[in-house]
Amino acid sequence: MGADMSRPVPKSFHVKSFGCQMNVYDGARMAELLEADGMRAATSAEDADLVVLNTCHIREKAAEKVYSDIGRIVKRAARAEREHRPIIAVAGCVAQAEGEEIPRRAPAVDIVVGPQAYHNLPGLVAEAVAGRRSFDTDMPAISKFDALPKRHRQGPTAFLTVQEGCDKFCTYCVVPYTRGAEISRPWRAIVDEARALVDAGAREITLLGQNVNAWQGEDERGRRQGLAGLILALDGLSGLARIRYTTSHPNDMDDALIAAHGEVPKLMPFLHLPVQAGSDRILKAMNRSHDVAGYMRLIERVRAVRPDIAISGDFIVGFPGETDVDFAETLALVRAVKHAQAFSFKYSPRPGTPAAAMPDHIAPEVMDDRLQQLQALLNEQQHGFNLASIGRRCDVLIERDGKRPGQRIGKSPWLQSVIIEQGPPVGELVAVDIAAAGPNSLTGIIVERAAA
Ligand code: SAH
Ligand code: SF4
Ligand code: F3S
Repeated sequence: MGADMSRPVPKSFHVKSFGCQMNVYDGARMAELLEADGMRAATSAEDADLVVLNTCHIREKAAEKVYSDIGRIVKRAARAEREHRPIIAVAGCVAQAEGEEIPRRAPAVDIVVGPQAYHNLPGLVAEAVAGRRSFDTDMPAISKFDALPKRHRQGPTAFLTVQEGCDKFCTYCVVPYTRGAEISRPWRAIVDEARALVDAGAREITLLGQNVNAWQGEDERGRRQGLAGLILALDGLSGLARIRYTTSHPNDMDDALIAAHGEVPKLMPFLHLPVQAGSDRILKAMNRSHDVAGYMRLIERVRAVRPDIAISGDFIVGFPGETDVDFAETLALVRAVKHAQAFSFKYSPRPGTPAAAMPDHIAPEVMDDRLQQLQALLNEQQHGFNLASIGRRCDVLIERDGKRPGQRIGKSPWLQSVIIEQGPPVGELVAVDIAAAGPNSLTGIIVERAAA
């Protein structure tokens, strides 16, 4: 059944986000917006009058998920014999990429809203209530951020979008089309939002952008600043303990940002710097506009100022034309870098991207085999990095309760999960000695404080 009749005004909502951290940020902001509009968060998706699916288009599997989810929502509502099934909104990057195609495939969809238009959600919901299907995939010149309510509720770790969009046009990637051109939010808006997040309980802020290190702006005194300047300003924010940023592009890693890793106390020793592949030929075909040697030089320079820095990245295996030799070069690069963690994916052809039309697509079983080899190596490196943490003393920011009574789970400066028995409450920083390490987490023992 489509949006063909009027319905009661929704009282409760549920936002489900897929994909990257920016979608998590957007999902939180949509929730705040809907609350400001008088709705409350439903206890579960099943109970919600409005379900927002905040989607990801990066790989085919991610993009297809939305359709199975819609099917499930419709079926569940029918089974529960609800008088009205929930209003269904598709937001995020699938909304932007597929637009009006979505209700053609899934007629139950009432609202399609893109990543630069979600500040209009209340109006779109009103349309759906009136029985009209509504679309908004505009990328307006006026930023959605100006139209969103202030931040007011926050756990210990917060995301803060400072930059959005991408002008890099890697040949495999949909992001420049779904998120639009690179824009930087103004300095003042970012500093104000950071302050509000800290006042609401955040101890750690992760600055977000598709190319976060391409951020640029002017500070209060009108001086040009890059991401390093912004990080330095946030370092002065009382109550804030930790700063992170993601995702960076190798070509935007400037001297000031590298230096910041050696100089800014609150900047955590972690760098997510995707390289994608270890073959110059493939990097060229990907339009990455950096080569292997340049990438390795960057890693060396960052390690020179911060020797303990944890390096993370993203890899794609099976890009069109990738030979065994190319792939061996990726493994060689991984061995040379020594990652603390990394994400790796099979190449997924995306509609409208140049790579999808390239010759020599790689057979699925070859991709499977390469992914397995790469992940085995990355897992081994991650475990190695964790094992090397044993005996270190560090601060852990407690993020949540563990399974056992008194157990807490937090993060080390290097973004490893640390399990602590009888830890302090969520939101506290505690000094621990790392006593044990597994492939995915560490065990920390609280450092005894000298008796007063
Ligand atoms: N802006 C970031 C991340 C973009 S998306 C960057 O440039 O690194 C996150 C990751 O998804 C990418 O780094 C890439 O490894 C992967 N990815 C993007 N498009 C893909 C595709 N078509 N197939 C498989 N993986 C892809
Ligand atoms: Fe996609 Fe490349 Fe832009 Fe990253 S830099 S978002 S991979 S086009
Ligand atoms: Fe996915 Fe869009 Fe993020 S495609 S990875 S949700 S920018």
